[in-house]
Amino acid sequence: MKISFFSSKSYDRDYFARFNTHYQLKFYDTALSLESVDLLTDSQVVCVFVNDQLNAEVIAQLAAKNVKIIALRCAGFNNVDLEAAKAHGIAVVRVPAYSPHAVAEHAVALIMTLNRKTHKAYNRVREGNFSLERLTGFDIFGKTVGVVGTGKIGEAFAGIMKGFGCRVVAYDIQPHPDLIALGIEYVPLNELLAASDIVSLHCPLTPQTNRLINEETLQLMKPNAMLINTSRGGLVDTKAVIKSLKTGHLGYLGIDVYEQEADLFFNDFSESIIQDDMLMRLMSFPNVLITSHQGFFTEEALCQIAQVTFQNLQDFEAGTLNPATTLVKP
Ligand code: NAI
Repeated sequence: MKISFFSSKSYDRDYFARFNTHYQLKFYDTALSLESVDLLTDSQVVCVFVNDQLNAEVIAQLAAKNVKIIALRCAGFNNVDLEAAKAHGIAVVRVPAYSPHAVAEHAVALIMTLNRKTHKAYNRVREGNFSLERLTGFDIFGKTVGVVGTGKIGEAFAGIMKGFGCRVVAYDIQPHPDLIALGIEYVPLNELLAASDIVSLHCPLTPQTNRLINEETLQLMKPNAMLINTSRGGLVDTKAVIKSLKTGHLGYLGIDVYEQEADLFFNDFSESIIQDDMLMRLMSFPNVLITSHQGFFTEEALCQIAQVTFQNLQDFEAGTLNPATTLVKP
């Protein structure tokens, strides 16, 4: 069976080659979209990532090209029209948990960098500037941290923040008994926003969570609070966040994901004129830290992604798809 990879990078080629047993692998650098779908020839499997666009039109084209299965090498699936896949009899599988710790730990890295300004200190010291002026941080110990979405990543994150000595409050449409046992209090979203010094988003992007953080909900947050988003860019209304940062109400912003990231993230534009004025405005704030969707990017996660993807395909061939990794059955 031939697998066609879209949006592939050197690390995809390395890790998938390492765990490949018998598949023929074809790697395309370009993202899958209506414009690029014609690249695909005689492949029953497409393997895609977070910013590939699998809307109904693209899926119809895949069906016409005899694609039998879409293998997502990620957890989130907001970029795939599952109903269209179902209608065309194309199976959809994913890697639901490659390393929840990787993303949770990256959220903590964003918090610690924004707070203790280690990125600024690193540059200062290398230039012989040993001044502490404007590097003041705050103790994380004793602060209230709000976790929105307490699935695998949210749970790992809540556990770490408990370890820091924080009061952790959570909001989820399905509270988890394990977290309550850990001493984590579930509260309504508006209470979480009003109580938290740090708010971290770990719920999926759905019609219900789209722009969960907007002008209204930002107003509910404590003045000078920190907002962390390592989940999906669409959870946050970027324009409203910029407005809140400009007034000084939102104290810090750390994002690993961005609404319009598909045109930029994972690629090198260091010699180009970036056209995204919102992102450039965000970058101009001293209290904003942006990383380009690297939360998942650890050795352990890359191994897991390749292994689970190959296992999904073997299960598909054997007619024994694992319900835990299957979004649409053929
Ligand atoms: P999960 O499925 O284990 O947990 C999601 C949680 O969100 C569940 O407890 C669910 O009940 C809750 N939820 C659903 N709708 C909600 C709503 N309307 N309000 C509040 N909570 C709601 O997912 P997991 O593995 O923890 O991943 C969370 C998200 O993290 C993914 O959907 C993905 O968008 C993002 N992610 C980001 C990565 C990165 O590299 N930055 C890597 C992997 C995932």
